[in-house]
Amino acid sequence: MQLDVAAIRAAYPALADGYAYLDGAAGTQVPSAVIEAISRAQATGLGNAGGAFPASARADEITAACRAAVAALTGGEPDGVIFGPSMTALTYRMAGALAKTWQPGDEVIVSRLDHDANIRPWVQTAERAGAVVRWAEVDPATGELPAAQYSGLITDRTRLVAVTAASNILGTRPDVAAITTLARAAGALSYVDGVHATPHVPVDVQALGADFYATSAYKWSGPHIGLVVAAPSLLETLRPDKLVPSSDAVPDRFELGTLPFASLAGVTAAVHHLASLVPGSGTLRERVLASMAAVQEYEQELFEVLLSGLDGFGHVTTYGKAASRTATAYFTVAGHTPEQVACHLASRQINVWNGHNYAWELTGALGIRDSGSAVRAGLVHYNDAAEVDRLLAGVAELVS
Ligand SMILES: Cc1ncc(COP(=O)(O)O)c(C=O)c1O
Repeated sequence: MQLDVAAIRAAYPALADGYAYLDGAAGTQVPSAVIEAISRAQATGLGNAGGAFPASARADEITAACRAAVAALTGGEPDGVIFGPSMTALTYRMAGALAKTWQPGDEVIVSRLDHDANIRPWVQTAERAGAVVRWAEVDPATGELPAAQYSGLITDRTRLVAVTAASNILGTRPDVAAITTLARAAGALSYVDGVHATPHVPVDVQALGADFYATSAYKWSGPHIGLVVAAPSLLETLRPDKLVPSSDAVPDRFELGTLPFASLAGVTAAVHHLASLVPGSGTLRERVLASMAAVQEYEQELFEVLLSGLDGFGHVTTYGKAASRTATAYFTVAGHTPEQVACHLASRQINVWNGHNYAWELTGALGIRDSGSAVRAGLVHYNDAAEVDRLLAGVAELVS
């Protein structure tokens, strides 16, 4: 099934401003349905949770609907969906809860491919617990994170393996299922960063074998909310720090303070928006899977045009050649710093990012962090061929 990209673009008011939004990897624009859902939630009386009056019941309904929608997006269970201000904040929180059972000499594995949000919380928490940190390495020539190395890294002391489902700069999609299978066989838990992967591919936390799957709604057309999905039975075993009077139920015990109900209504609308990208029937889960399969196919076709265009310029270096990757290009232009390239493109109304984009270890491993790293142009489902042409024309001005 093909995407009707013109219709999709029309659903996003911000896309009408003439800019080419190739910055989606840092956060997407938001469709009208999401804006309206947030505004409707605020315009209808909305109370705090758990009260005796209808405005409070609406907050509870919004929360329950959002947990169900995120479960449909990821293949998890509604009672295993945790909300937080960002993936980074939630990861520090989950690390704190998990580390309560770690002993000195226990081991935690992080990867050089990951965004720092799935590295530093584990490294710092491990240090406090006296746990040992082991590193999975990236092949800088290809941008692959070979899964085979994990059999040499995982031991009977491994408590947690943190790994990304997709690199936010190279797009590399490692074999997460192979890695989590090795972790599980050794009795270790896995924490999978799905922030970059979720907008680009159908997600199935069961197939990934992810004990925890983290994502952020602002990367997939929603508001700024972080999410962690885990089995409720696993969450029951964890005791995060919490206030005495706040709910001890799962997943509430992981959520600090009052939830942003209006934003949660927006998250639900974002999942429904994703599920509606191709016509179809069936459950929300079935529709979202069909839509995301179409998104993946569309983005990959457009990405080929983008990559072959960039690789066709003699003066451009592209990074990453992973066999499986999202539509995320990372490149440098000879004779221009990444910042100069981004500024030039901005003058042509083309939004791209320059710098390490918090892929701190990875840009270090690639040997480009100290020179300003590179330029990132990422495609999402609302980008079109005309925007790719504009980007290539903008880069061509620098190389001619
Ligand atoms: C792969 C990846 N992981 C984690 C994060 C952090 O997410 P948040 O901004 O929700 O903390 C980002 C944000 O750019 C990301 O791209």
